[in-house]
Formats: sequence, structure tokens, C-alpha cells
Amino acid sequence: MLMKMAEGNCKIIFLETICNDRNIIERNVRLKIQQSPDYADQPDYEAGLQDFLERLTNYEKVYEPVQEGSYIKMIDMVKGEGGQLQVNNISGYLPGRIVFFLVNSHLAPRPILLTRHGESLHNVRGRVGGDTVLSEDGELYSKKLANFIEKRLKNEKTATIWTSTLQRTILTATPIVGFPKIQWRALDEINSGVCDGMTYEEIKKIMPEEYESRKKDKLRYRYPRGESYLDVIQRLEPVIIELERQRAPVVVISHQAVLRALYSYFADRPLREVPDMEMPLHTIIEIQMGVTGVEEKRYKLMD
Ligand code: F6P
Repeated sequence: MLMKMAEGNCKIIFLETICNDRNIIERNVRLKIQQSPDYADQPDYEAGLQDFLERLTNYEKVYEPVQEGSYIKMIDMVKGEGGQLQVNNISGYLPGRIVFFLVNSHLAPRPILLTRHGESLHNVRGRVGGDTVLSEDGELYSKKLANFIEKRLKNEKTATIWTSTLQRTILTATPIVGFPKIQWRALDEINSGVCDGMTYEEIKKIMPEEYESRKKDKLRYRYPRGESYLDVIQRLEPVIIELERQRAPVVVISHQAVLRALYSYFADRPLREVPDMEMPLHTIIEIQMGVTGVEEKRYKLMD
């Protein structure tokens, strides 16, 4: 039926995931009963469990494995070790990217902490871009952040701190000890090209057409000799794949435009909202990835 519906409109790829690991199935069933809206009105765990196991048996009775057409079968890949991926009749760029994405993604719960760098001297002066050091407030934030991370991740065996290659993020990470740090050029702030180092007022005065074009379509507007939000989103792909792949917590210390894009990806926000999303300084956004989707907490460390 689906293939008929898609004929001439789009390509269908079936995705089948198979899990034979009893422990994982039991864990998933437990989480389902604890967290699914289906069982929100069922206070008795055992009754919920019986109901769900019955449901599973019913599914099993009518289930037909995928055996034709374009499909991807993921067999016992949940654990992140071993397992098997079967790919049938898949070709083309996007289907290839989907396979690559699936190989790297998993649902093991782990937090991702997103924060902008501490306030920089350019932030104080209202200048975009540049590579300035932190202001006094920015330095204070870096210490508070280190304290926060130490407490938040004290029970974690491993975690990594990711920064951009710009010194305001590296300096923000400096007081954090005990975790490996990785610098990503892909986490650098949007390249504001010829406008780098200017204030928005200066851009408006000196290059009014540029200012107006950006205002009209901030998502697609590309700074002369710089980048657009769409460019930023594109260069974040390897970062996103790597974040999906991680099983331990990751702290990402980056910049306003980049974090708008990263956050929007995880929070499943539409593309058009990305450039105007609120991304305040001195605030940590904790994203918890798990079976029920993405949960979010915000910690404002300074007034
Ligand atoms: O002002 C801080 C900053 O990180 C600049 O370096 C950057 O150009 C800007 O934010 C991005 O925000 P917007 O796209 O709203 O100008």
C-alpha cells in the first residue's frame, strides 16, 4: 500500500530494527510502562507490564519481516557493539546518508550540555565575530560553569568537552578539569565575512543593503565573504553525527548562531526558527536524549 502511494512521488525505504537482547527488551518495556502516555492512567506497574507483554504477543502474531524493495535492517545494533546492518537495494546520496546516520545513532540515554562561551570583550562592545578574550563576567561564568560541570558529571565515568577553535570558548573551558577537551573548527561562530568586528549599527550605516537583505531572510543571507545560517547548518553535520554516536555526556561550548542550529536539530525545531531563537549567554541547556525523545533543562548560572 505504501509503495503504491509513493509511486511517482517519492522513494520508500523500509527500516526494520530487530532486537534479540532480553535485557534491552526488558529495559525498553519498563521505560515504556513508566513513561508512555499509554500507561499514564495505570498506577499498577505489574498490570501495565502484563498488558504490554500481551500487546507484544499480538504484534508478533501478525508481524511480517521486510523482504523486498529498498530496506535497511538493523539487527542487534542497540548495544553499540557487534550487531549487523543489512542494506538492500539502496542507492543515491540521501539514502546513503540515511544509512550512515543510522549506523551512528542510538537511543542510550545520555546528556548533552550546550552553552555559549562566557561573555567576550566583543559581546560587551556589541561587535560581531572576532576572536576576543573573556570579559570579567565571562571569566566568572567560566568558573561557575566548571563548578556546575564538576557536580553534574561527578558520577559519570567519561565525558568530553567540545569547544570551537576561537579563544572565547577555549578560555571558557579552561577551568574545567578532569575531562578531555576537543576543539572543532565546525563549532566556530558564523563567519561574518566583511562585517567581522562591526556592530549591527555600523553595518546598518555603512552597508545598508546588506543589513536589509539579512533582515529580510536571515536564514539564507550570506555575509559577503562569510557564511549564512544554512552554511553553518551544513558544516555542523559531522558534529551532529558525532554527538549522535557518543554514549557518554558531551559539553559543547560554542557560539550563538552555531548553538541555535545545534539546539534546533535536537529539539526538532523548524529551520525557519533557527536564526532568531533565543540563546542567552551564561546559560546551560541540558538535553537528555532517551527513549521518549528529548527532554530539556535550562540552568542560568548568572543574573
Ligand atoms: O554577537 C555575538 C555573536 O556570536 C556574533 O559573533 C555573531 O555574529 C552573532 O552572535 C550571531 O547572531 P545573529 O545571527 O543574531 O547576528
